[in-house]
Amino acid sequence: MVIERSFIECRLIFTASVNFYIESLQRYNQGAVHPDSNPSDTAHRHYPTIIMLESYTRFRDISVSERLLNTVFLLTVGLGYLVALSNLYYTHQGRDGIAGLSIADVTINYHGSNDQTRLGSAINGIMEPNLKYKNDKDVILKWIQDGADEPDYDQKIAPILNRDCIKCHSRAINPSLPDLTDYAGVSEVAHSGGASYPRLIRVSHIHLFGIAFILFFIGKIFLLCDINVLVKRVAVVIPFAAMLLDVLSWFITKSIPSFAYVVVASGALMGISMGLQILLSIYQMWFYAKDKG
Ligand code: HEC
Repeated sequence: MVIERSFIECRLIFTASVNFYIESLQRYNQGAVHPDSNPSDTAHRHYPTIIMLESYTRFRDISVSERLLNTVFLLTVGLGYLVALSNLYYTHQGRDGIAGLSIADVTINYHGSNDQTRLGSAINGIMEPNLKYKNDKDVILKWIQDGADEPDYDQKIAPILNRDCIKCHSRAINPSLPDLTDYAGVSEVAHSGGASYPRLIRVSHIHLFGIAFILFFIGKIFLLCDINVLVKRVAVVIPFAAMLLDVLSWFITKSIPSFAYVVVASGALMGISMGLQILLSIYQMWFYAKDKG
């Protein structure tokens, strides 16, 4: 897939830039050794007092070329995020039959929809004549709509299927047809859609790797801002936490549809916190840094 290939390319570029960034940090730290702390210098009788002031790099300490590099990186990532959002819109919208992106679309994507089950369409179509009583159709459709749970199956559904369907639909008689003799078999055709675990696992591993890199670099730049240290500590963790919650809630939404709200909320939190880091970094890099001299 095109998206996956571009993700792998992004990853390669990011790995190269991480190495470069770490190397330049190391070079910076080596250059910052205090001249008085030369251990081979034995001429001094008394050791000079070295006042160790904790100092951290801020935007005002970095060169214009580094600011430019940071800025084009942040702008590109911001643009990439917007494009990713529109990709999300076009791949998810309209799944519920209504144009535009809604919670229902997200729910259908991860959990599936009971309106589009194989049992539902069979009973609405070619299998309908097999029913002895027409109103049993509504009983079955309502059961599917309510989540196709086992307790109701035993009470309401099994008697209908045993009477009208299993003469053809049993493993012994016709192994190629859906087996409607027990809950496990019926459940297979009474639930539908939703993301499969292999697909969720594939998408999450790409997501976690790719986005961790992006957030790491944005955070690394954001650390150069001059803001309250507590705010900063919380701010660098939030997008990561939101991303982890987002991915976790995909898996939960597969079983519990109302978790679609958590998917959307955590996704939004990640986007907003990342956006704020980008905007504040660019602002401080070019405007705030100068005021402080
Ligand atoms: C006379 C035999 C017979 C009876 C009775 C029967 N079916 Fe079927 N059913 C079939 C056959 C044959 C197919 C395969 C049809 C096809 O693939 O076109 C099928 C297919 C299906 C499918 C799968 C559709 C799909 O998505 O592939 C479902 C679900 C189903 N039947 C449900 C039922 C239900 C519910 C009943 C009882 C109300 C029932 N059937 C009664 C013969 C029967």
